[in-house]
Amino acid sequence: MYYPDEIVEEVRMKNDIVDVVSGYVKIQKKGSSYFGLCPFHNEKSPSFSVSPSRQMYYCFGCGAGGNVFTFVMEYENYSFPEAIKHLAQKAGVSLPEAEYSEEMKKRESKRSRLLEVNKEAAKYFFYQLRSDKGEGGYAYLKKRQLSDETIKKFGLGFANVTSNDLVKYLKGKGFEDKLIQEAGLASFDEKYGMHDKFWNRVMFPIQDINHRVIGFGGRVMGDAKPKYLNSPETMIFDKSRNLYGLNYARTSRKNNVILCEGYMDVIAMHQAGFTQAVASLGTAFTEGQASLLKRYTEEVILAYDSDGAGTTAALRAIGILKEAGLTGKVLNLEPYKDPDEFIKNMGTEAFEERMKAAENSFFFEIRMLQKDYDLQDPESKTKFYREIAKKLCGFSEEVERDNYIQAVADKYSIGTQNLKKLVLSYATQTGLAKPAERPKSGIQKKNTPDEMRKKSQRLLLTWLVEEPSLYGKIKKYISTEDFTEDLYKKVAERLFADLEQGQMNPAAIISLFSDEEEQREVAGVFNTRLKELTTRAEQEKAFHDIVLAVKRNSYEYYSAQLGSDVSALNQVIAGKKALEELSKTHISLD
Ligand code: UTP
Ligand code: MN
Repeated sequence: MYYPDEIVEEVRMKNDIVDVVSGYVKIQKKGSSYFGLCPFHNEKSPSFSVSPSRQMYYCFGCGAGGNVFTFVMEYENYSFPEAIKHLAQKAGVSLPEAEYSEEMKKRESKRSRLLEVNKEAAKYFFYQLRSDKGEGGYAYLKKRQLSDETIKKFGLGFANVTSNDLVKYLKGKGFEDKLIQEAGLASFDEKYGMHDKFWNRVMFPIQDINHRVIGFGGRVMGDAKPKYLNSPETMIFDKSRNLYGLNYARTSRKNNVILCEGYMDVIAMHQAGFTQAVASLGTAFTEGQASLLKRYTEEVILAYDSDGAGTTAALRAIGILKEAGLTGKVLNLEPYKDPDEFIKNMGTEAFEERMKAAENSFFFEIRMLQKDYDLQDPESKTKFYREIAKKLCGFSEEVERDNYIQAVADKYSIGTQNLKKLVLSYATQTGLAKPAERPKSGIQKKNTPDEMRKKSQRLLLTWLVEEPSLYGKIKKYISTEDFTEDLYKKVAERLFADLEQGQMNPAAIISLFSDEEEQREVAGVFNTRLKELTTRAEQEKAFHDIVLAVKRNSYEYYSAQLGSDVSALNQVIAGKKALEELSKTHISLD
């Protein structure tokens, strides 16, 4: 942590969450909370709540939540220390110099070292672009009509033709060979020693939603192969869970997200004012990316290349978007190849027009399907209709299905009743699709053993926050060691210590985490409404089951470590005893 806990807490307490949020969002008092339209996703009826007593906010629509620090981090795109600075200034608290001792540096995790080395590399590339050696790169970006402002906004840079200067620079900054290699910035071989991975390329730093550089894409300036070279996946660079441009797109306040194929497309779109454009990272669009987008939007407009590969990729992406519960639309960029070329040749207004005319993704699928059939030939035509009917079975909701049947029938001049019959006959053979699972927020929750384990630990914490008196009844059986998930363990340590003192302060616990993702998850713990169970007996059973599940998991966890870790033995012995006792004990909620 950069600042002492007491200071962080002082800053938090001096910034009332209702005041701070009111500065950005219109909220109205309703009962003991305030409600308004969520600033983190698009909605028409208010599901964003602010609780003065808890000093927290939570959106029931998109799952965004946290304390006053989380709020300004999300809204202003600040890092944790930046949020503290901002709020300290607002409340007139003077901050000490940020703590950053030698010892802390040593303790810093691998993660933050990787982030640092990437940041340094990005800086280096950025300056190279402006140096003599970078002239070619700069000229290339200019030829592609990027303004200086755009180049700066996306932190574009240049890897020059010297083959080990980045390595030298990074080593001079104190980074070890191993780390530089692990970040994918250099490799080692017997003949050349350590040498840069990126060579004579314009560099695109890839940032996460908090503007931290997690990897790079580098483009050759001519026609050599590969056109783009990308960083490998690392501990901080998960290509399936990040999107290029999302750090800007997520606060663009547009009603949709434009999904492109390439980095250059995203940059050209942003430069033209379409700041809601994103792209995947040199790999196909994934489910993880869809659920990430679901946090910020309801509608995704596909702006893929207009060639065959682009169409195939679009068809794949449509399926993934549908699964995630997102509405997909497809842009027609003809006669141009991609959004970058379109915008250069036709300009912003023409692009706006194409956006308005974007095709419903189902019609797009059907239109692409049609290319495989000859509608002049009755047999081929019949097959085409059958395929349409099959696809229509994918709509599980009757009203929606009927609407599509009607629309497709009109479009392709098929009798509505005939098409309906055809759909029904398919439905009786194969069954209608089950409704796609539509997670309310974030990552899809699956019932894997791993998820169940996390879930019981999370629920136990939620119960204790909702009914602090339960702590006294379970502390005999459950200790912080029983939380095998690091994040929940950290929450439990602070929560249990507070409860021992007869107090509780969820908003303060959130500040223990500096990462926005973690804050979001912890906020979720404090804001989950426990399922409305009807009777007291049911509630007691549910709680008892959760306590047992947490204890059983911990017992299994430590048992598995017995061979290698002596200290696990005590946990196992105590765990066994507690489990036996627990299964016979009734825990009353009164
Ligand atoms: P494109 O070939 O469409 O490139 O690849 P582009 O973004 O339009 O680039 P320009 O306009 O030719 O400069 C789309 C995306 O696919 C990935 C990159 O992420 C690229 O932005 N890609 C492409 C690679 O990772 N490696 C390659 O060799 C080519
Ligand atoms: Mn292109």
